[in-house]
Amino acid sequence: MGKQLRLDKYLSDMNIGTRSEVKAWIRKGRVNINSTTCKKADEKVDIDKDLVTFDGIRVIYEEFIYLMLNKPQGVVSATTDNRHKTVLDLLADIKRKDLFPVGRLDKDTEGFLLITNDGDLAHRLLSPKKMIDKVYFAKIKGKVTNNDKEAFLSGISIGEDKPCLPAKLEILVSDDISEIKLTICEGKYHQVKRMFEAVGKEVIYLKRLSMASLNLDSTLELGEYRRLTKDELAELKNITNT
Ligand code: URA
Repeated sequence: MGKQLRLDKYLSDMNIGTRSEVKAWIRKGRVNINSTTCKKADEKVDIDKDLVTFDGIRVIYEEFIYLMLNKPQGVVSATTDNRHKTVLDLLADIKRKDLFPVGRLDKDTEGFLLITNDGDLAHRLLSPKKMIDKVYFAKIKGKVTNNDKEAFLSGISIGEDKPCLPAKLEILVSDDISEIKLTICEGKYHQVKRMFEAVGKEVIYLKRLSMASLNLDSTLELGEYRRLTKDELAELKNITNT
């Protein structure tokens, strides 16, 4: 037996209408379960077994959603916020209330953010034990040097009990404004900014390029998102299950 849901929730979760709209439509007889009209909004639906139609068109329930967002600056990685727009506000056509971002990017950080309602997968991706790689591109005020590379590789202290785990720094441009790629396998608060602070430098632009096996889709403009492909999801689950 699959998960059981009320009929009105099933339909509103799938963006057929608001909860009160779908209740009214159910009462009007526009919804069938297994070819029989159902006028009860609280009727239980088995999401795996029952066949639900609205005006004769099949409505398939998508239990888990996995979205890759290219986060723009100025929005916060939270589900609600009193003052700022959140990453969920960017999801124009997906109005599921159970979605959340997997981890946080700072308000002024751009790039890859996974948004899902799969708590188990999120937990595994964020677990320190899994040491999931995150790759960032950054612009740094000042010359980034091989000394910084070595310091990051040997585990730099950012004022916590333990130093950071070894991180791989790739210097793309070393100049008054340097450009770098950094791979870290932790997710400490403001970690990239604090690592550069620890070597006396300032991050002036930060973008996440990837997390685990997922690379930011270069066709996504800032603020755009798409569902993960089957292959992307399979690989991600594979990595987090090991
Ligand atoms: N490190 C930071 O400093 N900020 C982010 O948003 C992500 C990693």
